Amino acid sequence: MQAEYRQRREQLMAKIGDGTAIFRSAPMAVMHNDVEYVYRQDSDFFYLTGFNEPQAVAVLAPHHSEHRFVLFVQPKDREKEVWTGYLCGVDAAKEIYGADEAYPISELDEKLPQYLEKASRIYYHLGRDRNFNDQILKHYQSLLRTYPKRGTGPIAIEDTGPVLNSMRLIKSEAELGLMRQAVAIATEAHNYAQEIAAPGRYEYEIQAEMERIFRVRGGMGPAYPSIVASGVNACVLHYIENNRQMQNGELLLIDAGCAYGYYNSDITRTFPIGGKFTPEQKMLYEIVLEAQKQAIAQVKPGNPFKLVHDTAVRVITEGLVELGILKGEIDKLIEEEKYKPYYMHRTSHWLGLDVHDVGVYQHGQDKPQILQPGQILTVEPGLYIVPDTKLAEDQPETDPRWVGIGIRIEDDVLVTPDGHEVLTAGVPKAVNEVER
Ligand code: GLY
Ligand code: MN
Ligand code: MN
Repeated sequence: MQAEYRQRREQLMAKIGDGTAIFRSAPMAVMHNDVEYVYRQDSDFFYLTGFNEPQAVAVLAPHHSEHRFVLFVQPKDREKEVWTGYLCGVDAAKEIYGADEAYPISELDEKLPQYLEKASRIYYHLGRDRNFNDQILKHYQSLLRTYPKRGTGPIAIEDTGPVLNSMRLIKSEAELGLMRQAVAIATEAHNYAQEIAAPGRYEYEIQAEMERIFRVRGGMGPAYPSIVASGVNACVLHYIENNRQMQNGELLLIDAGCAYGYYNSDITRTFPIGGKFTPEQKMLYEIVLEAQKQAIAQVKPGNPFKLVHDTAVRVITEGLVELGILKGEIDKLIEEEKYKPYYMHRTSHWLGLDVHDVGVYQHGQDKPQILQPGQILTVEPGLYIVPDTKLAEDQPETDPRWVGIGIRIEDDVLVTPDGHEVLTAGVPKAVNEVER
């Protein structure tokens, strides 16, 4: 992998020319008092270095004569390592991670200016840590002050997003391999969940069995808090309490994915807990399934990203009219977003190092994002007949027989040169497959 990290840095450096880019590792996050969460590196930092320790800064200075890639890291510290584990240290930052030069993080202020004073601009993403933002701004201001003396130095700070995100959006073979593994593990977990879900069991039992599989298969754990939502809980999009006893006659919505080697899968399935759909559940399920099928069919190079969502919205709106849940002319209902009380989220997001991965969905008003080979997106339409929803005045009162049903079906789809590949096709979703 080190060769690939280097190649990514070269690609980024080619784009920033005579600028200098600064990336900071993710901070440790506190769970409570002095107990911390398991460390997870910042995705940009990891993408460019593969380095997974906190308190590190990476500098890319393509114009520098000797040090084009510099790492600031925590130094080796025997005593500290006894408590919190192995530290790579300054020497290995060069040997293992390929830095041209490496320093202890405590020397950042002293050493950073030499990599900035000849740069035309600084590439830096203003992050959540105000103190670190200030630290970078202080360097910038100081270089601006001394600019007349040198006649060189940065005269702008530019976000790293536009240069980096377009790279992260297209997955390499190596990335795809990790994605496939994240998918394979989650696929096994979803299949097992469908096998063991039964009336009387608790949502958390299913969650626990799935997350056990995530770990025993070598995954890092859940890609996001697992959603195991029975009955009306499925109408809460981010329901994560997972503490209810499941009942016969209800649906179970499971939205759970696995993180593997920093890459994520994101899968949702909805199926009858007792084995058979009620007629109402089945009618709504078939609408969502058809919406998903038609939306996935639009995933191919050259199609606008937005077409995937628009396709799902049309099928869902038509289905709701057919069932009498919505009333009116299809185009008008879509234009006025009358489907929104029942389908309130978007159909797709990019997927990769982040579950909601980086990359734009639109390049401005009239310039759509066009699908390209190597992109991975979710396709996840749903229908949620939320109790006590406020409806538009021209719409009928929802018949109680639909109320409380929540359905989502989510797959991870790779754009290929000739169309697409549904990476998550190993999890059943056909009506006859999810019934038992
Ligand atoms: N589970 C997060 C999502 O589906 O976007
Ligand atoms: Mn998703
Ligand atoms: Mn999901």
